[in-house]
Amino acid sequence: MRVGLAYNVKPADPPDHLPEDAFEEYDSEATVGHLCDALSALGHEVVRLGAGPGIVDALRRSDPDIVFNIAEGEGGRCREAHVPALLEMLRIPYVGSDPLTLCVTLDKPVAKRLAASEGFPTPRFRTFRSADAFCGDGLRYPVIVKPAFEGSSKGVRLSSRAVDPAQAREMVAFVTGAYRQDAIVEEFIAGPEVTVGLLGNEPPRVVGVMEIAPKTVSNEEFVYSLEVKRDWENQVEYRCPPPLPTGVIEEIERCALGIYDLLGCRDFSRIDFRIDADGVPQFIECNPLPGLSPGYGDLPIMADRMGMTYLSLISEILSHALSRQEVRAR
Ligand SMILES: Nc1ncnc2c1ncn2[C@@H]1O[C@H](COP(=O)(O)OP(=O)(O)OP(=O)(O)O)[C@@H](O)[C@H]1O
Ligand SMILES: [Mg+2]
Repeated sequence: MRVGLAYNVKPADPPDHLPEDAFEEYDSEATVGHLCDALSALGHEVVRLGAGPGIVDALRRSDPDIVFNIAEGEGGRCREAHVPALLEMLRIPYVGSDPLTLCVTLDKPVAKRLAASEGFPTPRFRTFRSADAFCGDGLRYPVIVKPAFEGSSKGVRLSSRAVDPAQAREMVAFVTGAYRQDAIVEEFIAGPEVTVGLLGNEPPRVVGVMEIAPKTVSNEEFVYSLEVKRDWENQVEYRCPPPLPTGVIEEIERCALGIYDLLGCRDFSRIDFRIDADGVPQFIECNPLPGLSPGYGDLPIMADRMGMTYLSLISEILSHALSRQEVRAR
């Protein structure tokens, strides 16, 4: 098959006026290379499409049978939906979730409201447009302050955990000013952090549950922040499976599968939780475009710990996408 690869890579020379993590969600050339190599090793012809406006011509020129989409898109809370929406318009099959799922999951307040409406516990939160609009009432401290629609810990720092309204206001000013979007202020859950990898459709399956355990601080203070992700070898230990009671792990898996279904995820996703003092998994966010960098992305690390090679991970994601749709034979 001819497989198109839609992706955004980090610019070599980012503009100075943007925050240091402005392109944190984008992939490295190395990751794109690993994915191309894996798809070639599976016997496919791979065409690099990029993801900007030039993708329209690239699609017309290359005429792929299916597109493997890892594009994060450019700007706004619908950015991850741009490429899939275009592919739907052009009637080209693609790997992964559809535009609606990519929009509702990128917007954390929307995803949390949906999860809560179906009874999945998620920390209480409020959103603010600016520091002037901030009002610290009604939430239990500490809280965490994050951009309302980003990923890869963009806009999440060690200082994002705020112990009082004054600190929270400062972080709301940082998020709304530097990232030009609402800040979500959410009650901080101080227990273990876990991420769940899921693959497939009707029914999907859990690949693994992995605890991200801090090496240098306690869970009470731990934030899987930009600083930590950039120095992960020294800062965190990945435990897969985690040393949690069986009942808690079963509940994490139940919530992850329920939220995957509720939010309409397809083919692959990663869902993050923190476990509260009562052992209840609190939904943090869902990533239908999880990083696929081997040895660095949480999903490939988890797959590896569960005995699944990078090649079989990519092969399984692609085959779930193929079995959902009619792909023409050449
Ligand atoms: N309510 C919360 N309570 C405790 N910690 C939280 C909470 N929300 C976020 N965090 C911490 O901040 C980190 C980043 O938050 P979140 O997962 O929402 O952001 P992200 O940038 O979308 O992450 P990803 O890299 O998974 O895309 C989490 O991994 C967790 O350590
Ligand atoms: Mg996360």
